[in-house]
Amino acid sequence: MDNVKIAIAKGRTADEAIELFANAGIKFADYSKNSRKLIFKDTSNQVEMILVKSGDVAIYVEKGAADIGVVGKDILLEEDADVFEVLNLEFGKCRMCVCGRKDFELSYNRKLIVASKYPSIAKNYFDSKGIHCEVIKLNGSVELAPIIGLADVIVDIVESGKTLKENHLEVLQEICDISTRLIVNKVSLKTKSKSIKTLISKLEDVTQKGVTA
Ligand code: PRP
Repeated sequence: MDNVKIAIAKGRTADEAIELFANAGIKFADYSKNSRKLIFKDTSNQVEMILVKSGDVAIYVEKGAADIGVVGKDILLEEDADVFEVLNLEFGKCRMCVCGRKDFELSYNRKLIVASKYPSIAKNYFDSKGIHCEVIKLNGSVELAPIIGLADVIVDIVESGKTLKENHLEVLQEICDISTRLIVNKVSLKTKSKSIKTLISKLEDVTQKGVTA
């Protein structure tokens, strides 16, 4: 069997992915949440896992530095990477939404100022609605923008809704559902076909059984 390298987004995604992989029989015995280690081997010594920033997973896979990636659909939509998306892993579920003050009305008559960690998703969405907008890219704490007057609305992920609630904001429009996906490098899928398809099939089994649902 070929060795397979998997890039996984650090943090919550890695914790849930490692549980899913373990259910599929791929165990990373030396992984722990608090470790600062970035490269791990599974117990069979055939799968190597690297932990990267979520926004970098798709580029590692597109360039072939990893054969497989585990990453949120939000990142895939934003990065538009040239990879195969092969499986919905059914965790990390949330929604991509336009959010703002409760009484804010989206208008077609003037330029909308939008703050987001996802400038491409935001621009594509408002373009598709025929709403003229300027997008300001932020790196976090996006909810501040409409509160302090930096932007009219934000485009961001909403999971529990707690962050919005505690900052007196609301979902104004839903853009799409988000969850974690398995992606594959286009060349690896041909050159390491057997190993990668076996791995996909094992993950498909445990995902469909809803082990992590
Ligand atoms: C994300 C997102 C929202 C929040 C939504 O931020 O950008 O702010 O989580 O989750 P909730 O609906 O469960 O409250 P993250 O925690 O990644 O922090 P950041 O603002 O530093 O990006």
